Amino acid sequence: MDIDQHYSDHMEETGLLAQLRQRYPEGPTLYQLAPIDQLHIGGIKASEKLLQQLDLIQPKRILEIGSGAGGLMRMISNRCSAEIVGIDITHRFNALNSALTQLTHLPASLIITGDAQQLPFASNSFDCIIFQHSLLNIPHTDRCLQECLRVLDNEGSLLLHEVLEGANPERMHYPVPWARSATQSHILTFAQLTDVLQQNGFELNTAENWSEAALQWRQRQASKEHSGKNTVSVSPLQIFGDSFRQMGVNVIANLNEGAVEVWQLSCIAKA
Ligand SMILES: C[S@@+](CC[C@H](N)C(=O)[O-])C[C@H]1O[C@@H](n2cnc3c(N)ncnc32)[C@H](O)[C@@H]1O
Repeated sequence: MDIDQHYSDHMEETGLLAQLRQRYPEGPTLYQLAPIDQLHIGGIKASEKLLQQLDLIQPKRILEIGSGAGGLMRMISNRCSAEIVGIDITHRFNALNSALTQLTHLPASLIITGDAQQLPFASNSFDCIIFQHSLLNIPHTDRCLQECLRVLDNEGSLLLHEVLEGANPERMHYPVPWARSATQSHILTFAQLTDVLQQNGFELNTAENWSEAALQWRQRQASKEHSGKNTVSVSPLQIFGDSFRQMGVNVIANLNEGAVEVWQLSCIAKA
């Protein structure tokens, strides 16, 4: 199955948008959208940590690769004056991203349907690139990083909030939100990722292992999802379908059993 099908096949965007319009006639807040537009382990809290990193860098032209339903893009638009462009291979995510931005009354951003391994931008177009749980779907990491180096300014920043392979990859349970089976998951070990970054012109600046906080966050989400109290709120089930229940269970097991880890890395491009 192609990766865009994995993300599109169970997406109920029409019903989701109608529900949001009815429930939030003045427009939803970014927190109200978080269950369906922050599709990474750690949710909106993890995106806030990424924004703290952006505050230090103060970029002017940001590219988010694998922008999904656009939660991070809207947080950036809401917080700073930087231009933010999104690219995602799943066209229906891009349409949903635009529609959600309209509902929030935030300014529209450029969102392109395309493949991170062949970026449709001129060289030196950006001073910052962000991946948030999207490198994990990309088969040719080196090709993708070569493209990032090309479209980034020299000394530009690369920020990664990604799932990496843990010490016990044999304990991996599928499906997970980013893959229904192993063929869709392209997670690397920390050593593999830092090697491929260095080989493709990126110098590692900072690296933080967020696995413990990520596990606690998913456990809190699971207890909210199972409490049954949340019936009016939007839900990741409207993106991933019923198998999200098993995906959520598997994310907890994979973190608990050391099959995966969650990291945030920042790097500098050295052309
Ligand atoms: C797990 S989702 C994360 C979405 C978003 N970054 C977030 O955190 O909410 C991974 C995203 O990467 C996108 N993606 C996967 N492979 C891609 C590729 N080769 N080029 C561009 N986007 C890709 C998917 O369509 C999906 O939107």
